[in-house]
Amino acid sequence: MSKMAAVMESGEDAFKQLFKFYKRRKPPPDFSDVIDFSGKVCTGKVDPIQLSPRAVSDAAASSVGLRPVRDWRAFGLQGFPGFIFISNPFQRGSQPFWIRQCLKTYPQKPNVCNLDMHMSPCDTKDIWERSVHSLSSPSAPRRHEKSLLERLRWVTLGYHYNWDTKLYSADNYTPFPADLQSLSQQITLGCGFSDFRPQAGILNYYRSDSSLGIHVDESELDHSRPLLSFCFGQSAVFLLGGKQRQDPPTAMFMHSGDVMVMSGQSRLLYHAVPRIVPSPPGLLTSELQNPPSPPNQQNQNTPTEKSSVLEPVSERDWTVCLGYIQSSRINVTVRQVLGAEQNFPHS
Ligand code: OGA
Ligand code: MN
Repeated sequence: MSKMAAVMESGEDAFKQLFKFYKRRKPPPDFSDVIDFSGKVCTGKVDPIQLSPRAVSDAAASSVGLRPVRDWRAFGLQGFPGFIFISNPFQRGSQPFWIRQCLKTYPQKPNVCNLDMHMSPCDTKDIWERSVHSLSSPSAPRRHEKSLLERLRWVTLGYHYNWDTKLYSADNYTPFPADLQSLSQQITLGCGFSDFRPQAGILNYYRSDSSLGIHVDESELDHSRPLLSFCFGQSAVFLLGGKQRQDPPTAMFMHSGDVMVMSGQSRLLYHAVPRIVPSPPGLLTSELQNPPSPPNQQNQNTPTEKSSVLEPVSERDWTVCLGYIQSSRINVTVRQVLGAEQNFPHS
């Protein structure tokens, strides 16, 4: 049977087929076509790109844990104008702070998470503290019930995405975290976007058997603004397709610290995460060294230095985070929902 006939017969387009190919467990798929930006990129599909080193001072980059923009390894993909892949622009030792924020801080109120859908606010008030005990002693008494942290699937920030209506709304908003706003702004400035406003965030928490289906992010009202995606913990295969659902996608690995920007003509492309894969040996251990917190680090910045949003992560917190990301992946997407002068339509 020809390939096309097979597609017609199964009713599956090329994207769905590749999604299933990479999701398959037995036998495991061949990953040799998956682009890996962390190594040598010589596939002929990838172009190194020049960002805007002068748009972000080294101090501003460092204040959110990023290397100087001139040191970012950024790539474009042929045929995907507006798509930018930045291979781990984080300074060594700064990812622990962001991972701690994703696991301990952002799931807290007033942000919204999946557990709120079927639990009372007082039961979801302290996901972290309630999970710490069982996570930091994995070999302790057999756990019958998963901890709240292990049951966390998503958190929304800013304009809270409504998963049922697929809408954002003016009256479902809480302040967007200032630290993540600052990180997002340094990334977009470095990529040459001058006025990106982070207004909504979605955090996805993946276990080793999780996947994310084929979709387009089109709920935002202004599609001319870039969409940012940050990855922490275990790696993933990411599929980037076309404007049509059936367009065959390109596969790439996303590792901890990698940042993706979907902008311009690539803002509304189909994409998916068919598979979580173990991070390459040594990558997490080399990147995720939590620098010991010096006593009284507060207010160490000299007046001319941009004050850092990074706070030291305690040994206790880091032990829990490390245990978690041993088998999990965290993805943060940051979106501008409204254009500069735009409002939500009156309903
Ligand atoms: C999303 C998304 C991709 C990822 O949240 O919309 O596409 O890498 N996430 O998890
Ligand atoms: Mn998406």
